[in-house]
Amino acid sequence: MRVLITGGAGFIGSNLAKALSVDHEVGIVDDLSTGKRENLPPGAWMREMDILDPSLAEGFIAFRPDVVVHLAAQASVAESMRDPARDWAVNVDGTGAVARAAAAAGAFRMLSASSAAVYGDPVELPLPESAQKSPLSPYGRSKLSAETMLAQTLAATPTDFASMRFANVYGPRQDWRGEGGVVAVFCAMMAEGRVPTIHGTGEQTRDFIYVGDVVAALLAAILTDSSLRAGEGAGPAYNIASGKRVSINELAQVIAKASEYTGEISHTESREGDIAHSALDPHKARSVFAWDARVPLPLGISKTIDWLMASQ
Ligand SMILES: NC(=O)c1ccc[n+]([C@@H]2O[C@H](COP(=O)([O-])OP(=O)(O)OC[C@H]3O[C@@H](n4cnc5c(N)ncnc54)[C@H](O)[C@@H]3O)[C@@H](O)[C@H]2O)c1
Repeated sequence: MRVLITGGAGFIGSNLAKALSVDHEVGIVDDLSTGKRENLPPGAWMREMDILDPSLAEGFIAFRPDVVVHLAAQASVAESMRDPARDWAVNVDGTGAVARAAAAAGAFRMLSASSAAVYGDPVELPLPESAQKSPLSPYGRSKLSAETMLAQTLAATPTDFASMRFANVYGPRQDWRGEGGVVAVFCAMMAEGRVPTIHGTGEQTRDFIYVGDVVAALLAAILTDSSLRAGEGAGPAYNIASGKRVSINELAQVIAKASEYTGEISHTESREGDIAHSALDPHKARSVFAWDARVPLPLGISKTIDWLMASQ
C-alpha cells in the first residue's frame, strides 16, 4: 500500500512512518516547522512543503497515495492562544486543502488527527465520541472545525474518511523542550536529576496513550476492510485513548521509579483553564477496526526513558 503522511517528520507521524515503511511505501509532506528530517525512515519519498501551499495537490498526485494520514498541524495549545489566526489557517484551512488533495490524488481513505481538546470540560467520564463538545482553547476549536471541514470536503467523494481523536500521546521522539507534553518534560527532568513541578494538587487526571498504541490504531484504521464513515452521519470520529484516568501525581511516581529519581517533586499554583479530569472511551475503535491500547503506562514510560538516554 502507498501511504502519504502529512506531518510525517513529527512525533506521531515519524513513529507511524517507521512502522509503515517495513511493508508499505511511505510518502511524507512536512514543512519541518517542528518536525525533523532525521526522523524520516531511509528511502521515504519526501516533499518539504506547507500544507497551505497552492501546489499541494500536485505533490499528492505525484506520490499516488492509496491512503492519506493527515497529522500536520499547529499542535500547541499555548501557540493557538498567541496566534489564533495561524492556528485556524493551518488546522482548518489546512485540513480542507489536504482533503481536496487526497480526493484529487484518488486516495481511497483519509485519516485526520483530532484531539481530546474538542470536548473541553467533560460532562461524563470516560467520554464517548457523541459527548458534548465545548472546546476551551483556539486549538480545541480549530480541531473541532477541522472535523467538519474534513466531512464537508469528502462527503460527496468516494474517499472514506475519519477523524482520530487522540488523548495525551507520549513516547519516543516527543519533544521535551519548550511545550512538550508533561510525560516528555517529566522524563527529561527526572532523568537529569532536576526537580519537576506539578501544577496544582496533582490530583487532576489525564488519559495517557503510548505512541506505539496510536501507531497500531492508525495501522488498523488504514488497513481495515470496514468503511470508517458508514452509518456515521456528518463527522465520523474515533477516540484513540487508553480509557484510563491517571493522576499527575501517579504519573510522576511512575516516572520517578523508572528513572530512579529520588528527589522532591514540587507543586505550584494550578493553571487557569486546566480541566480537572479527562478520559476518552475507546470502545468504538475496538468495535469498528479491532484496536485496543496494549502498552501499560510503566512499560511505555520505561521505553520513553530508554529512548531519551540513547538520544542524548
Ligand atoms: N501529541 C499529542 O499528545 C496529540 C494529542 C492530540 C492530537 N494530536 C495531533 O496529532 C498530530 C500530530 O501531533 P504531534 O504531537 O506528532 O506534533 P508534531 O509537532 O511533532 O508534528 C506535527 C508535524 O507537522 C508538521 N507541520 C506543522 N505545520 C505544518 C504545515 N503547515 N505544513 C506542513 N507540515 C506542517 C511539523 O513540522 C511536524 O513535523 C497533530 O495534528 C496534533 O494536533 C497530538
